[in-house]
Amino acid sequence: MRTFIYGGFILIGFLAIACTASKHIPHDFPAEMSEPVKVEYVKLYEKGQILYNINCDKCHTKTVRGKRLVPDFKPEQLKGYELRVQNPQHESGLPEETVTAEELGHIMTFLMYKKRNKN
Ligand code: HEC
Repeated sequence: MRTFIYGGFILIGFLAIACTASKHIPHDFPAEMSEPVKVEYVKLYEKGQILYNINCDKCHTKTVRGKRLVPDFKPEQLKGYELRVQNPQHESGLPEETVTAEELGHIMTFLMYKKRNKN
């Protein structure tokens, strides 16, 4: 009985952590994007989102009134390679060994098509 109760507490605790740590942001693709293209983009987007959480989140995500806000970068800010070298924090923090060119591309897809923050 006791193990059952403890098990229940552990499960509830685990679920609570899983919920607050949930970092998923829905995508917002252009309406004219065809279904087959969308299917491919969803895959890239989801990879990009995970890679963002691993590599970029710690510096860029803010919490405002308990809500997690990933910045709404403008398309012209999402430059891929130039991003690596344009400021010292990126130069030291985003080497090719940590984030490959392909991975950076996925992250750009995520940032480009994530649902915008409400103001
Ligand atoms: C060690 C901290 C750090 C990490 C890690 C980091 N950045 Fe940055 N980033 C900065 C700082 C500092 C700036 C310049 C100030 C700002 O715009 O917030 C910046 C600026 C930017 C900009 C704006 C560039 C512009 O032209 O205005 C983009 C886009 C960006 N980062 C994307 C990323 C992405 C994508 C990742 C992960 C692959 C990442 N950053 C990881 C610190 C970081």
